[in-house]
Amino acid sequence: MRGDRVTPRPAAVIILAAGEGRRMRSSLPKVLHPLAGRTLLEHVLHATVPLDPTHTAVVVGHGREQVGAMLAERAPKVVTAVQERQLGTGHAVRVALAALSALAVGLADEDTVVVLPGDAPLLTAATLSALAEYHHGGQAAASVLTAVLEDATGYGRVVRDGAGGVRAIVEQRDADAATAAIREINTGVYAFQAGPLRSALGRLTRQNAQGEEYLTDVVGLLVGDGAVVTALAVADPAEAGGVNDRVQLAAAGRALRDRLVDAAMRGGTTIIDPQTTWIDADVTLEPDTTIAPHTFLHGRTRIASGATVGPECTLVDTVVGAGATVVRTTAERSEIGAGATVGPYSHLRAGTRLGRDGKIGSFVETKAAQLGDATKVPHLAYVGDAIVGDRSNIGCTTVFVNYDGVAKHRTVIGSDVRIGSDTMLVAPVTVGDGAYTGAGSVIREDVPPGALAIREGRQRIIENWVARRRPGSPADQAASAALAAAGNGVPADVDQGDVTHNGPEAVGITGVPGTGSRT
Ligand code: UD1
Ligand code: CA
Repeated sequence: MRGDRVTPRPAAVIILAAGEGRRMRSSLPKVLHPLAGRTLLEHVLHATVPLDPTHTAVVVGHGREQVGAMLAERAPKVVTAVQERQLGTGHAVRVALAALSALAVGLADEDTVVVLPGDAPLLTAATLSALAEYHHGGQAAASVLTAVLEDATGYGRVVRDGAGGVRAIVEQRDADAATAAIREINTGVYAFQAGPLRSALGRLTRQNAQGEEYLTDVVGLLVGDGAVVTALAVADPAEAGGVNDRVQLAAAGRALRDRLVDAAMRGGTTIIDPQTTWIDADVTLEPDTTIAPHTFLHGRTRIASGATVGPECTLVDTVVGAGATVVRTTAERSEIGAGATVGPYSHLRAGTRLGRDGKIGSFVETKAAQLGDATKVPHLAYVGDAIVGDRSNIGCTTVFVNYDGVAKHRTVIGSDVRIGSDTMLVAPVTVGDGAYTGAGSVIREDVPPGALAIREGRQRIIENWVARRRPGSPADQAASAALAAAGNGVPADVDQGDVTHNGPEAVGITGVPGTGSRT
């Protein structure tokens, strides 16, 4: 079937990635610069996958350790061919063919070899497949992928004869004025028959402006041999865009962004503002998801159906369950359960797992925290190295005190627990099912199921302290007025619970009567 695999399968794909990329002005090899969660080279490798080549070789040179390490990790089946000195694109292909034959990979003369640059992240699998099919159908020795550009500056020009046949490719620096005026350019992507390619590579010279073995000269040599050379113009010239500097890197990033966002919308995601939504290539969005503006979805993030993410979210390798809502949140390597709500202003660090219908609210930071179904951390808390059961509530300004200055320790909290506001849970510590803690408590010892743990320490009232120590201050004036209005007794409209520390916010624990009264 078309699209599944191209016939015939190329015997080899060769990706050229040995160049320095000097114009990037970077210590990172050019092909390792990332876009949409993949390096430039990985984008190219992905585009070649549907060709299903028997062998893939990548020519490395500059930064070969770094490029080789990335390939070993991400594309272990790829053959790396080392080009010690960058003597040109033709030389690079020779090096690749030599590396393949050193591995006893025999290429028959009529086998197809696809060559492409490692710095062209916008090339699509569809275009490469179209070139391979076109090449096969035309029985050509070489087929060149070309593009017609408004501004062809910098590219090799495709020179055709009166009948439209390809005669040669001439590099910009070797072109006369008439040739330089040609707007059809060489994209640097080719399909060759292995036999003619080998023969022509053996005859390349370095007699050109750059003193290099140009792969492009293979075209003229094959035409001179009387072989058929064809050219296929790419449907979307933008695909030809290589990355040579960081301006082109950003342009390619925008183009990829547009593509990925379009694909998401066609797949059933509402994207409110495509211009400010960035989706990495390996992100999965189920249908009926909504992404609000200024949202960045990175890595292997997955968003399930019915979920809304954004505005202003950055999610890295994070899973968002069906129907969940995530607003103004940064999350890394976390899982958000179905129906849960997160944000605004939440930071979910690696290892956060929030259960179904759970809540992580404003100004909450979590790390290595497993929170059960319907468990809530509504506001202003740090939850680190924690396991919390289902339906528990973690009060405002609670801290999971996980670090003793040397090591991290874990806190375990059961189900249906009520942690009062401003509780310090000094790990390692366990709070049993159904237990309560009083507001402002420092919990250093385990709390049994169903118990109330509360820090002792009675509230002290020092009457008329303000009048003595802050005479004439606004506080004194306000207090004097209130006391006078109440006939020097307890002001009638003051709820006694507010006067004590153990107020109603202490998870329903009533204040201790009397301690707040004034005489
Ligand atoms: C090349 C083509 C040009 C085409 C353009 C398309 C040649 C001589 N010119 O020019 O016709 O329009 O691509 O983008 O081929 N590389 C090596 N080893 C080398 C030299 C280069 O591996 O010794 C690699 C580079 O890392 C790069 C690719 O080959 O990925 C192309 O090399 P580059 O120097 O960028 O060629 P261009 O000048 O862009
Ligand atoms: Ca280039």
